[in-house]
Amino acid sequence: MDSVWYDGDAVGFLDQRALPRAVVRERATNVESVVEAIRTLAVRGAPAIGIFGAYGVALAARLHAGDRAAYEHAAAQIRAARPTAVNLAWAVDRVLATAPGGELDEARRIHEEQRDVDRRIAQASVALFPSSGNVLTHCNTGPIATGGDGTALGCFVAAHRAGKALHVFVDETRPLLQGARLTMFELREAGVPCTLIVDSAAAITMQRKAVRAVVVGADRVARNGDTANKIGTYGVAIAAAHHGIPFYVAAPRSTFDFALDSGDAIPIEERSGEEVRIAEGDAVYNPAFDVTPGRLVTGLITEYGVLAPPYADSIPDLEHRARLPLPVA
Ligand code: MRU
Repeated sequence: MDSVWYDGDAVGFLDQRALPRAVVRERATNVESVVEAIRTLAVRGAPAIGIFGAYGVALAARLHAGDRAAYEHAAAQIRAARPTAVNLAWAVDRVLATAPGGELDEARRIHEEQRDVDRRIAQASVALFPSSGNVLTHCNTGPIATGGDGTALGCFVAAHRAGKALHVFVDETRPLLQGARLTMFELREAGVPCTLIVDSAAAITMQRKAVRAVVVGADRVARNGDTANKIGTYGVAIAAAHHGIPFYVAAPRSTFDFALDSGDAIPIEERSGEEVRIAEGDAVYNPAFDVTPGRLVTGLITEYGVLAPPYADSIPDLEHRARLPLPVA
């Protein structure tokens, strides 16, 4: 099920807000609709919003052909639609840097690369899992979040297909329930055994259910391994460290922000209190992401292999390798 695509004169997307109740496909025919789809999480997941943003910029190039200023303004609006996932800025900048006329090809290349990258991430992860046992994840990192096979969720599926008897505990992921709605749906579709838990059950699940590994995705990784991901990830990482459980982050090169030395400078999106508020008038603090310190991350699963600490060494090395073509898989 493709989550984003280009269909001639519009950018198509699967409306993730409707899942799993209904499969609703929509078309964005102008830049405002592209921005709206990203802001409202109709399209969400760091790599997917990058690809969708890239197609959006290609659409803007067509709509504003011959008017560079209007085109660049439109691209800037798309780039700013959500602040935390660096994939969006990365993909928009890639399309913007393309020679006029090549925008759609570049967006399609970004999409195609993500499919390859997801396969590589999954392959790199299989050896990390035991032959059987429980694992745990947070938020949603499957095909609908990446436009490929998924990152963390793709790792579970690959291990399952390799014959490993994994059982995935899935955090519901409040407040918008990406885990309960999307991850459960995707794992079920892939035939991977899974059990839903409320977010606050993650620690007791580790304590009582012999969790062997945690794998999550990421929205932005700084040079020291500090990782921004869906709110609640940081608490899961602390609980995993307390129980001596390896905590892995699966993320493509496009999620690394080589300009940031640490996670302190990662912009954290704060969303409307309406997503959380029960009683009218209550004050709400609703950060959509948190930052897990790199020292809590056992390994970073990338298309270049698994990066180990110290990240201050392995991430600059990744930056160097990412400038070269990927070696043949
Ligand atoms: O607010 P969301 O649903 O876009 O947040 C998404 C996440 O935090 C995902 O874990 C992350 O983007 C990785 S998707 C492979």
